[in-house]
Amino acid sequence: MSDKITKIGVLTSGGDAPGMNAAIRSVVRTCAYHNIECVGIYRGFEGMMEGDFKDFTARNVNHIINTGGTILKSARSNEFKTKEGRAKAHNYLVKKGIQALVLIGGDGTFTGGMVFNKEFNFPIIGIPGTIDNDIYGTNFTIGYDTAINTVVEAIDKIRDTASSHKRLFFVEVMGRDVGHIALNAGVGAGAEEILIPEEDLGLDRLVESLKRSKASGKSSSIVVVAEGDKIGKNVFELKDYIDENMPEYDVRVSVLGHMQRGGSPSCFDRVLASRMGVKAVESLLEGKSNYMVGILDNKMELTSLNKAVKGKSKINLELLRVSDVMTT
Ligand code: F6P
Repeated sequence: MSDKITKIGVLTSGGDAPGMNAAIRSVVRTCAYHNIECVGIYRGFEGMMEGDFKDFTARNVNHIINTGGTILKSARSNEFKTKEGRAKAHNYLVKKGIQALVLIGGDGTFTGGMVFNKEFNFPIIGIPGTIDNDIYGTNFTIGYDTAINTVVEAIDKIRDTASSHKRLFFVEVMGRDVGHIALNAGVGAGAEEILIPEEDLGLDRLVESLKRSKASGKSSSIVVVAEGDKIGKNVFELKDYIDENMPEYDVRVSVLGHMQRGGSPSCFDRVLASRMGVKAVESLLEGKSNYMVGILDNKMELTSLNKAVKGKSKINLELLRVSDVMTT
C-alpha cells in the first residue's frame, strides 16, 4: 500500500438510497483500519463548496449500518457544474488537507467527480448508490435491493384492496430512464403487465393483455409502470384511457414515489455497501483513481468512471418473457 494518502473525504450526492450509511460506515472504518484520517463532507458537492466538513472516527459511525437515508445528507448541485464552484471546493479540500475522495452516488455524482479529477488531478473513487440500478460496471447498486423489496411489499398491499374491489391498479414506480425496479418488483409482485422505458409495448398490447386478463377470470389486475416509461402516457393518462376504452374495468392509480428511497437497508445492501467501502478506500491507497467500485459475478471490480457513466446498464429481457408467461 502507498503511504502517500493520509486523509480521505467521503460524501453522498444525488438521490439518497438505503445502504448509503452502511457505505459511509465502511469507508470511515476502512480508513481507521489503515490508520488514516477520514473527513465526512456534508450535503454532497454543495457542502464541499462551503467547507462543511467533520472529522470522523470509527466511533462516529456506530449504529448506522441499519438506518436509511444518509447521515451526511445529500444534494443535487448546480453550482458544482461551474468552474468557479469546483475551484471553491478544491480550495476547501486543500485547506483541510484532504488528499482523495470517495463519492457515493449515481451517474450525476460520477460526472462531477470526473470533471473535478481532470481539473485538479484529484484522486477519486466512486461507489454506486442509487435505487435505480442504472449504472454500468456493477450488477447491483446500493439501495436497489431494498427498494425492490419495498415496492413488492407495497404492491402486495395494493393487491389486497384491488382484489377486494375487483379493480385494476396502475402502480407507478421510480426509474427515470430505466426499468429495473419496475421489471423486478413487477415479476416479484405478480403484476399483470410491466411498462418500462426500454420497451415501448404500446397501448394496443396493454389493452389486449387486459382483455385476456378479464376473460381468464382474474379478479384484480396490477400494471406496474416505470416513471420513465415511453408509452407516452403517465399513470393518470393511462387510467383515463382505460376508463374510456374499457369501461368494464374500475381503475385506480397509486404513485409509490419517494417511499421507495426510504427504510432500513436489506442485508444484501448492507453487505454490498460494506464490501464496496473497503474496496474504494483500499483502491485509493493503492494509488488508483477515477474508477468506480462495482460488483460483477460477486467479485469487487473497478470500472473507469467514464465507462460507468457512458455505458448502459442492460435490462434483463428474459424477465419480460417470464412476466408474460406468468400472466397466462
Ligand atoms: O435517481 C433516483 C431517483 O429516485 C429516480 O428514480 C427519480 O426519478 C429521482 O431520483 C427523483 O429525484 P428527486 O428526489 O430529486 O425528485
